Amino acid sequence: MKKIAILTSGGDAPGMNAAIRAVTRTALYHGMQVMGVRHGFNGLINGELFEMTLRSVSDIIHRGGTILYTARSREFMTPEGQKDAFETCKKFEIDAVVVLGGDGSFHGCKALIGMGVSCIGVPCTIDNDIACSEYTIGYDTAMNTAMEMVDKLRDTTQAHQRCSVVEVMGRHAGYIALNTGIAAGAIACLVPEIKYDLEKDVIARMFQTERTGKQHFIVLVAEGAGSATEIAAAIQKRTGIDARATVLGHVQRGGSPTLRDREIASRMGFKAVELIKNGETNRVVSMANGEITSFLIDDALVMEKTISPEIIEIARVISI
Ligand code: F6P
Repeated sequence: MKKIAILTSGGDAPGMNAAIRAVTRTALYHGMQVMGVRHGFNGLINGELFEMTLRSVSDIIHRGGTILYTARSREFMTPEGQKDAFETCKKFEIDAVVVLGGDGSFHGCKALIGMGVSCIGVPCTIDNDIACSEYTIGYDTAMNTAMEMVDKLRDTTQAHQRCSVVEVMGRHAGYIALNTGIAAGAIACLVPEIKYDLEKDVIARMFQTERTGKQHFIVLVAEGAGSATEIAAAIQKRTGIDARATVLGHVQRGGSPTLRDREIASRMGFKAVELIKNGETNRVVSMANGEITSFLIDDALVMEKTISPEIIEIARVISI
């Protein structure tokens, strides 16, 4: 009988619980034993493992956060921490560790793999910034949350004929900003992947649309592309239009996962266990052309992801 451990690491993402549920139930279905690890890699270091049953994952598919808690473990970055984590795996006779997280967490997997512990990564991050997968669990919920917030801001922005500059998360990626911007009708989306010029890409567009009768403006900025506060101040100074900055922050990480996140989390969790069952470990589960597949962690970590020029063009053309 195989014994697997499951942990969540890095920033939480809505849908992590659905993935925990899928991994646990699929593994139990195949007669495996499942150990939950609390507090990410810290829990592996400290031996915070407990046995999971079918009922351990009841009533969680619709919940944000993670029942296993998460952490950005500094200790696991040290050789001592990694050795302790390895010892825990040995002590509990773990055959494979399923890690739900982002790129940083998959680098953590590499350390364990180097010591002989098999791992499977499942992409969970609201940023959608994992190169080997066109989709990451949590992304859809975060975008829907951001879109709802921008819709609310639009009302007050319209009422006052102002400009709202909204900063969204994404770390070094602009996926949330760009797609939320398209969905919420932003006049400009500033993302780290594309160099922008405030005068040409925002202010000139505001003047141009003002001449056609537009009276209020939404600008989306990814956190990796600038500060909403500074951009709003610059817009107000240059245009004379009253501008307000809103930083959405961690609200984007919370809430009940959308159908898409629950569905993809269920499919990816199922796939993670299938890989272990077939002896195909040290891989990251991913989505390619809508299908759930997987890549070797080594290959996954050197891949690069770009924003499609077509999406940029769509955002530019239809928001004027
Ligand atoms: O990776 C998810 C994310 O929410 C990023 O969008 C953001 O930059 C970061 O985590 C924030 O991290 P923390 O919750 O540690 O402040």
